[in-house]
Formats: sequence, C-alpha cells, structure tokens
Amino acid sequence: MKIMEIEGARELSGTIRISGAKNATVALIPAAILTDEEATICNIPEITDTDALCDILEALNVEVKRASESIIINPKNMKNIEIEEQYSKKLRASYYFMGALLGKYHKASMYFPGGCSIGARPIDLHLKGFESLGATVTNEGNKYIVEAEELHGANIYLDIASVGATINIMLAAVRAKGRTVIDNAAKEPEIVNVATFLNNMGAKISGAGTSTIKIDGVDHLHKCFHEVIPDRIEAGTYIIIGALCGNMLKIDNVIPDHIDALLSKLEEMGVELEIGADYVIVSKKDKYKATDIKTAVFPGFATDLQQPFTVLQTQATGKSKTTETIWENRFMHISYLRELGADITVKNQTATIIGPTKLKGAEVVATDLRAGAAMVAAGLTAEGKTTITNVEHILRGYEQIVEKLTNVGAKINLKEI
Ligand code: UD1
Repeated sequence: MKIMEIEGARELSGTIRISGAKNATVALIPAAILTDEEATICNIPEITDTDALCDILEALNVEVKRASESIIINPKNMKNIEIEEQYSKKLRASYYFMGALLGKYHKASMYFPGGCSIGARPIDLHLKGFESLGATVTNEGNKYIVEAEELHGANIYLDIASVGATINIMLAAVRAKGRTVIDNAAKEPEIVNVATFLNNMGAKISGAGTSTIKIDGVDHLHKCFHEVIPDRIEAGTYIIIGALCGNMLKIDNVIPDHIDALLSKLEEMGVELEIGADYVIVSKKDKYKATDIKTAVFPGFATDLQQPFTVLQTQATGKSKTTETIWENRFMHISYLRELGADITVKNQTATIIGPTKLKGAEVVATDLRAGAAMVAAGLTAEGKTTITNVEHILRGYEQIVEKLTNVGAKINLKEI
C-alpha cells in the first residue's frame, strides 16, 4: 500500500506544467482500435489508468509502444476476445472498449467497469444507445455481451447528457451504416478531442462540443497522429492549490476556456489570477469571500473540481455552500476535512462550509480520485503533517503529482508501506 506524507503550510512558487487530459486519454486509447492501422497519440499522461488500458490492449493482442508521453497503438493482429473482469474493474473507462469493439467487430464481451465509488454509475444509456444502433445486449451477472448482425445509424436522445454514453455511442456509430444523431449529447472538451481523433482517422463526425452530434458511418478508418488536450481538472486542482498556498505559482499548458466556471468562481472569492493564453498565475491572499458553487455539466462548474474547491471554501470568511448535482456520493472527503479542523455539515446534496478555519495536519484517506486531490490540497494548506492513505486513487489520475509539487517547494513524499 502507498501513502503520501505532507508537511503543510509552505509557500509554493515556480511552474507546474499540466499533462494530457486523463478523461480524453482513457477514451482515445480504446478508440484507436477502430482502425487496423497505426495510431500515434502524444501528450499521454503517465498515470495508472493509462497503464490499465494498455494492459487491456495487450490482452487483445494489440501492439503497444510507449515512449515518453506518447503511445503508438497497432491493432493489425488484434483478437476480439472477452475482456476479463480483472482488467475491466480497474477503471471506469474500460467501458469504452464496449463501443469500440462493437463498432469494429459487431461484438463486445466484457465485465462491468470499475472506477471511483462516487455514485451508482449505471451504464443504461450506453446500452440503450447500442440497442438503437441495432445491437442486442445480454448480461449474465456482471458480464455484458453486446452484439449486432449489422450496425445502422439511429436518432438517439440521451435522457442525461452523459460523457461516457456520448463517447461510447460515437465509437460504436463511426463505422455503422448511415447517419447517427445524438441529441442532448454531453459537450465536454474531451468529447471534442475524441471526435477530432476519429475524424483524423477518416470518420465523419460533426457537432462535437454542442448538444447535437451527427455521425455519418464510414467503412474504413486509417492511421493517424493525434495530441491529447491539457487536463482541465488537473489544471483546476493546481490553480486551487495556488489560491491556498501559492506565491506567483504558474500553472502552464492550460486552456483557460475549459475552466471558465472555476476561474469565475475564484475571481468571485477574491482570488487574484493572471490569465494568459495558455497559463494561469495565482497567489494566496489573506482573505477570501464565502462563495457558493453548484456542479453542472460542461460548461458548468465541473463536479471533478468540487472536492478540491471545498478546501478553498474552508479558508473563506463566512458561509459557503457546495451543491453536487451529478454524483450522489461525492462528499466522502468531507469527514476527512473535518479531521483537519474544517467546519462543514452536509445535508442531502449540499455541504455548508463555515470559514475561515486553520487546518491542522491529520491522518486521512483518499476515498476516490478527486477526494484524494482534495486531501492533497488540504494537507498542503494545513499546519503540520498530513498522512494520506489509499493514494492509489490519486495516482490513477494525477501524473507525477509528488514531483510536480516538490518542484514548486512542497514537502511531500510517497511511501510504500
Ligand atoms: C465522466 C468523467 C468523470 C466526471 C463525469 C461527469 C471520464 C472517464 N469520467 O464520467 O470524471 O465526473 O464524466 O462530468 O470521463 N448516468 C446514467 N446512466 C448512464 C450514464 C450516466 O444514469 O448510462 C448518470 C450518472 O449516474 C451520473 C450522470 O449520468 O449521475 C453523469 O454521468 P457521466 O457523464 O456518464 O459520467 P462518466 O462518463 O461516468
């Protein structure tokens, strides 16, 4: 088991460079099997979710070459065999193999995906989408078999603008016969990045980034080169950390438009930001104004930034509220923030935070990926030593987090116990 130890209350200055987006990467890797030719993807983050997807590729006999931050995927000798539970349960995004395998071979057999326990996380919208394209879904316990004689275009309305369902249906539809229209599609930048990748391979997708995506099926996809966009959630996390402990901390390789909602909320609190074309510079101020947030689909306030943002709310004067609307179980970080001294109560889907409080180091748990990021932000802010257990969750999504923070003056280390 790995733990993280942080000696907090140190000033952070220098530059943190943002890596490629986890949530784009985890869809791009399965998407690459839709061709029989080589796909080269650069700016791939070195996180354990990337490793887990490469393990699945290798289990399917796909050739994978990894060099620093880039990956070459060659599915020439691929075999469409069942994806075992030991692979699928490692991460949520293993479900993208369902759409990709269905799109390419008209059959996918795999187990229910794993991932953070932040809610029930059903995949009914993905499966309904596949059925609309002509597939039948059979499930035996945890195993799902999705197959079709032929895939045909369809008009699909998503009851919820789900990121996963939007991408998965896109993957299944790119090689279907005819036109698929996804209405109430999710608009997250990662979806645009995946659509661009598929279009570079010869797909015909328009409207990604809006709530109506049109996909005209093609017979063949070819080799391509692609770059992953910067990770807006990683960027947002470090910007929040900068507001807590920074002294002219520069967060580099950022697309500010992707984190508009966060930047506006930070400005509302009184955080001083210098926003450049591809960077943000942020310093800690002595006083912040209490501010409410409510999570929403893009371009709303990202649910993945809600947990780290709570830490900043503990430093604001007065009563702040955070309302979570996407996931029903995303307040597990709160009890650990209380261990550090925060004054927070949770009722239904709203947390009320009274501040400012001086946080003091304690032993805490990273209950999920972004709760873990919140623990790191809190540990860096708190006086004394914070020990975080279950840090495997954090390493699934933050590339070289210890090195990046150490480089800007944090005292943080990772230990195997
Ligand atoms: C993705 C992100 C995750 C982020 C989330 C919301 C990845 C790998 N993960 O997760 O970091 O927190 O978007 O921005 O990209 N739902 C259903 N049925 C379905 C699918 C979803 O009811 O078939 C519900 C979910 O329970 C949830 C909501 O829709 O309440 C949004 O989920 P969705 O956008 O699908 O999230 P993920 O793609 O799993």
